[in-house]
Amino acid sequence: MTRAHALLLAAALLSACDRPPPATRGIPPAAEATVQRWLSGTDPGSAPTAPRPGMDRGFQALGAEVYRLRCIPCHGVNGNGKGLHAARLSVPARDFTSGVYEFRSTPSGTLPTDLDLFRTISRGVHGTAMIPWSWLSEAERWAVIEHVKSFSPRFREEGPGAPVALPPTPAETPELAAQGAIAWARNGCAKCHGDGGEGDGPSAPTLRRDGGEPLRPLPFSGGRFLRGKSLPELWLTLATGLDGTPMPSYASIPDEELWALAAWVRDRAGLAGGARTLRPSPEEQLGWRIDIEDR
Ligand code: HEC
Ligand code: HEC
Repeated sequence: MTRAHALLLAAALLSACDRPPPATRGIPPAAEATVQRWLSGTDPGSAPTAPRPGMDRGFQALGAEVYRLRCIPCHGVNGNGKGLHAARLSVPARDFTSGVYEFRSTPSGTLPTDLDLFRTISRGVHGTAMIPWSWLSEAERWAVIEHVKSFSPRFREEGPGAPVALPPTPAETPELAAQGAIAWARNGCAKCHGDGGEGDGPSAPTLRRDGGEPLRPLPFSGGRFLRGKSLPELWLTLATGLDGTPMPSYASIPDEELWALAAWVRDRAGLAGGARTLRPSPEEQLGWRIDIEDR
């Protein structure tokens, strides 16, 4: 074999292992069904079912393609949250260049894990235009995560935070919620959220995101939670805070008290008895319309 032949063969082999699975195009029927269920309050599964694929050049290309097809309309070409539809959104799309993330299993101030990002992308963010993308293949989701991370130098400079240990979930009893009501008053949650958690506390009109945009906490009675409504998801929100917003982390509060607070919040949301069908949220519906329009 000549040197030229050997080079050709090597190039052919390389491109064969680099070839990514093709990106999903259009809106498959499974997407429609998933999003309709999500709009009425049923969240899709957000845990990966297979090990994460190795990130070779093929996957990097797939990530860029998924981002171009699905995420640019809101998050923008450069990941700065200034996509074509930014002006239509009342909750701005995340600016990925800052490297600040609301939904983490890691302590406030640290980077999320890849699994945190996988979960967020799969389950969506209620009350915002960020619909669930669980209907994309797992490979596509892992690949687009790498692309999202590439917008912030933070991910190259530091690793993710160490996930906080989620204690075993206690039984959700009226007594636990009653302890939560006491903890709610003791910890000054009402300052921002109001006595009943309706988002009307004395500080509410002054609250702003790090980017300067005003924001109001959602009324708990609406039953809609950005990150998720289960007891463990609410526990994690309290233990790690929502970085980039005024919602602090309460990592210093004992675990049992955090469970009690989470139970009280679910009680206010009418979730203590089980699932609840939600009224459609205009912002969530807008997100889905944008995604359809952009096909
Ligand atoms: C229709 C608009 C829209 C599209 C399309 C969209 N997003 Fe979002 N995304 C949002 C909004 C709005 C938020 C902010 C939610 C918040 O601040 O609570 C967000 C937040 C996020 C977050 C940050 C969560 C955190 O922890 O702070 C990630 C990650 C994300 N999107 C990834 C993606 C990916 C990946 C795609 C493409 C597959 C995508 N988004 C497509 C609107 C969109
Ligand atoms: C300084 C103001 C402030 C204080 C004090 C505060 N919060 Fe929040 N909280 C917020 C804001 C703002 C949001 C909404 C963030 C967003 O929309 O991105 C929020 C969101 C939440 C959510 C919703 C999470 C979700 O996934 O939707 C819960 C639950 C919550 N807070 C519970 C509490 C509890 C319990 C306390 C007291 C231990 C507390 N908060 C104290 C400002 C505050």
